[in-house]
Amino acid sequence: MFVDKIKEIHVEPTTVCQAECPMCPRTLQGYHLGKVPNKFLTLENFQLKTEAIINKLEKVLFCGVLGEPTACGDLLNIIQWILDNNPTCTIGINSNGGLRDTTWWQNLAHITKHNPYNYVVFSIDGLEDTNHIYRRNVNWNTLMNNAKAYINSGGSAQWDMLVFKHNEHQIDIAKSLASELGFNFFRTKVTSRFSKNDWLQPPTDHIVENISTSFSCMAKDTASLYLSAEGLWYPCCYTHTSKQTEFDIEWGKPIRDISEQSLWISLKLS
Ligand SMILES: C[S@@+](CC[C@H](N)C(=O)[O-])C[C@H]1O[C@@H](n2cnc3c(N)ncnc32)[C@H](O)[C@@H]1O
Ligand code: SF4
Repeated sequence: MFVDKIKEIHVEPTTVCQAECPMCPRTLQGYHLGKVPNKFLTLENFQLKTEAIINKLEKVLFCGVLGEPTACGDLLNIIQWILDNNPTCTIGINSNGGLRDTTWWQNLAHITKHNPYNYVVFSIDGLEDTNHIYRRNVNWNTLMNNAKAYINSGGSAQWDMLVFKHNEHQIDIAKSLASELGFNFFRTKVTSRFSKNDWLQPPTDHIVENISTSFSCMAKDTASLYLSAEGLWYPCCYTHTSKQTEFDIEWGKPIRDISEQSLWISLKLS
């Protein structure tokens, strides 16, 4: 059965974020004009949606399209419930690192550090003088203190740096700082989200190439589904971004009840 084949879920715990990254769908869709309603998953919602599969999952990723996972008040409770039911399930989180205090981040490390595959990706696009150019409203000192508190309490961390013209000269220093602070991985990324009027500029050696390649379906390859902060199941984060509402399944329907709906039949994992 379709539901039995799901190995991973990608969860958007909330649509709320303190930051205002210029190319984030949340900013582009106009949250400040009230166009992105504030939504949070609660522990109860999450349990209702996932209880049929929770003990079979291999991974739960907390990231999403429209918000900052750590802004969700129930995030630690949700993670604890997953691990109580499925201690070997890998927990991943993507975060700008600038919310919550050091005690919260220490608690996150304490409940996840038993499994070295659990991790937090900190999205840090530069150093003290540049991170806020893209990660608007993220306070550098809070971010650094939180990352240190998490790592020093045993948490495994990765530093992801989006490279622009304004921070490309800092890659080597950021990499050294990541190593000094105890991050396990450091990775640079370039974005393709530039449009004509963007004041943000790509790095100078950024070459956009048209590469001929074969396509594969990430959701099918990883046997994964996506749960939005509204409590809607989507095939993947890309379908959430493009608002293909024909895939929306209403609040309150646990995953086992949606497996035979006609729209999902065609998406069955082979
Ligand atoms: C909407 S964010 C949610 C998680 C968290 N708030 C964060 O930013 O890490 C989802 C992912 O999009 C990434 N992202 C943000 N701006 C981007 C851009 N211009 N190009 C590519 N990825 C971007 C973030 O770094 C993060 O990994
Ligand atoms: S930190 Fe993440 S969710 Fe917040 S505005 Fe930036 S990309 Fe969007």
